[in-house]
Amino acid sequence: MNITKAKSSRIGDVDFDNLIFGTQFSDHMLVCTYKDGAWEEPEIKPYGPISFTPALHTLHYGQALFEGQKAYYMQDGRVGIFREDMNAKRLNHSARRMFMPEFPEELFVEGIAELVKIDKAWVPKKKGHSLYLRPFMFGSSEFVAARPSEEYTFCIIMSPVGPYYSGDVKVKIEETYTRSASGGVGSTKCAGNYGGAFYATNEAKKEGYTQIVWTDHKSHELIEESGTMNIGFVIDDSFITPPLSDRILAGITRDSILTLAKDGGKLKVEERPIKVEEVMTALKEGRLKEAFGMGTAAVVSQISTIGFRGEDFEIETPADGFAMAIKEELTAIRMGVKEDKYNWMTILD
Ligand code: COI
Repeated sequence: MNITKAKSSRIGDVDFDNLIFGTQFSDHMLVCTYKDGAWEEPEIKPYGPISFTPALHTLHYGQALFEGQKAYYMQDGRVGIFREDMNAKRLNHSARRMFMPEFPEELFVEGIAELVKIDKAWVPKKKGHSLYLRPFMFGSSEFVAARPSEEYTFCIIMSPVGPYYSGDVKVKIEETYTRSASGGVGSTKCAGNYGGAFYATNEAKKEGYTQIVWTDHKSHELIEESGTMNIGFVIDDSFITPPLSDRILAGITRDSILTLAKDGGKLKVEERPIKVEEVMTALKEGRLKEAFGMGTAAVVSQISTIGFRGEDFEIETPADGFAMAIKEELTAIRMGVKEDKYNWMTILD
């Protein structure tokens, strides 16, 4: 791997007590290009602009995808990266569906480790803060014929971050717009899945909500995801989350929470279709104890209000309930306070 170090660091410009998600980037980035059917040698270089012409393929046809994971400052002063092997696999799942070349998983993992080592000083030290890693890939041929790109660029950039949401999360159950459909690309982290959600989310924001609860495209009866996150409910003594499908992203936080919940044994764990009607009935009968989003950026995000057909319903957001306990357990593993019995952390020397 070719490494060119930045002449000076920009870290002095960062106010680590007031981080705004994804707005400041560390000193270095990784770039790797795919040409003539093969990936070239990756390069780590100072963070900065990438030049291209207006015919850049991805600007026209959107063969673009991304990943998201985090590096944590651990209690012993070392830095650990959380389950990046899973991100490498998911990136390639997205790449296959978007007809893009797969990126070698060992290079993905090695590249991240090298990059985080170089910018280790950028990993925030405060609890609940982390260095957000953003690998992404896009079609970088320069032609506007409507066929797949021939060249691709893979990059990793990194941003020090704090908590994603502040304050209450009010969600609206969406029955008009759709995030994904069967046979589509909903299970991938392609850029368009996010861009395509902005309009509907903004409509919900105008009504005072923070995010949308997406329902299935056909009947709008099934709960699918919440905003950019997977969704979970505690109803009676069960933790319930919709099963994975080609419409739902295989969240790594979702998978980690399912593992901890199954092992913890406090609640019955159910991965199964869940209807809007079931959630609303449980809510009205006082059996819906918690509702929350699960994702890399926000980790666990408690939902305080569900809006359905013009009516708002409050939900408890207990500080000592299931969602916060599992978030705390995940945080403890990430900080090296609790044993990492699943080998989720890659600890850098
Ligand atoms: C996540 O929840 O980790 C996401 O994918 C959010 C990201 C789009 C900022």
